[in-house]
Amino acid sequence: MPTDERRLALGVIGCGHWGPNHVRVFSELTRSHVVACADSNAERLASIRLRFPTVDTIEDYEQILDDNRIDAVVIATPTSTHAEITRRALLAGKHALVEKPLCLTSQEAAELGVLAEKADRVLMVGHVFLFNDAIMHLRERIRAGELGRIHYLDAARTNLGPVRGDVNSLFDLGTHDISIFNYLLDAVPVEVSALGRCISQESIEDVCFTTLKYPDGTLGHSHVSWLNPRKVRTMTVIGERKMAHWDDVDPSETLRIYDKGLKEPPYYDSFGGFHCSLRNADMHVPAIPSREPLRNQAEAFLDWVLEGRAAPSGVREAWDIARVLGAAARSMRQAGVMCRVDTVPAATVMPTSMKADQVLIARGRPNTSDAKATAIENVPDHPVW
Ligand SMILES: NC(=O)c1ccc[n+]([C@@H]2O[C@H](COP(=O)([O-])OP(=O)(O)OC[C@H]3O[C@@H](n4cnc5c(N)ncnc54)[C@H](O)[C@@H]3O)[C@@H](O)[C@H]2O)c1
Repeated sequence: MPTDERRLALGVIGCGHWGPNHVRVFSELTRSHVVACADSNAERLASIRLRFPTVDTIEDYEQILDDNRIDAVVIATPTSTHAEITRRALLAGKHALVEKPLCLTSQEAAELGVLAEKADRVLMVGHVFLFNDAIMHLRERIRAGELGRIHYLDAARTNLGPVRGDVNSLFDLGTHDISIFNYLLDAVPVEVSALGRCISQESIEDVCFTTLKYPDGTLGHSHVSWLNPRKVRTMTVIGERKMAHWDDVDPSETLRIYDKGLKEPPYYDSFGGFHCSLRNADMHVPAIPSREPLRNQAEAFLDWVLEGRAAPSGVREAWDIARVLGAAARSMRQAGVMCRVDTVPAATVMPTSMKADQVLIARGRPNTSDAKATAIENVPDHPVW
């Protein structure tokens, strides 16, 4: 199918706020070019034609899936539509880079994993912070043992908008924090507690506070909100030897490594008093290249499809995240009780209060008489890993 084995031909589905960034990035790289864009909104396509006059624009994404010139698709539509469009893309033989989160449930993630394996296509998810130079650098330091055992991580991700209508702020923004925590710790939480508040809409949480417990006891905390006056993208990592602070909106000191912590184990003197001494030494700002994470991610997708080098952001990682989100959804329904993260695919759906029929409408499920959709029904609903 590909006309040029070393140059990937792409179609971008969904050209709202984020999709055009994929069009730009893949158009700039030497190993890829964008053939066509699809969006159900004609105004969005008009804006694509102005910026990228050589790219075909079409309203029905099925035309991209039927286009033999196109090897791979980027899916940047609303989250509730991802699973269905991804299924169709894989069945049409396209590699897919899907925006985060991959889907609404771990069951869908597992099904998509099986489908990608059967179709022998790459299915990568746009967990873009795994391609952020500072996060990659921090991971290397953690893996090298510089911070020691990690006690806890604390992240904040807030801004005024954009408010989503199909998923809550945890699914939208918290997905990033969960992906970063899992990546840095090389682990998946076993238990989750989450609380959220619906403010702007009746059944979609604008603000969520989520606590994740990892197998070794490490805690992760994520505060996300799209109803906040300040754009904040921060994370603090507390290790037994050192501490780190990441601030994605501070270009000069994005990552700081603090030589701070407990000097020696706490002790009690003869009078029973508690003592601990603290180490308060230097702060170091490592020099880190600041390449555009979306570009790094696009390069990783090309490496995977063209060279067979897998990225740490495949369907396996997305399945882990979907399991965590599912546990968080259950926890929110039970006023924040700790919920175990499923180890088998589950159909727990966000937003927390959305009724099943509303979710189906939100997903824009196509006519099930369609031959491609019928073929999907035969995919087993268990993971391949
Ligand atoms: N990685 C990141 O940092 C990041 C940032 C922003 C958004 N995103 C993700 O990207 C996705 C899109 O977000 P956005 O902010 O661009 O949303 P958006 O609502 O601005 O754009 C979505 C576009 O998809 C189009 N669309 C919807 N259904 C369609 C269909 N069936 N066929 C064709 N087009 C369809 C809409 O018309 C719209 O133009 C979301 O999943 C979001 O989570 C990721």
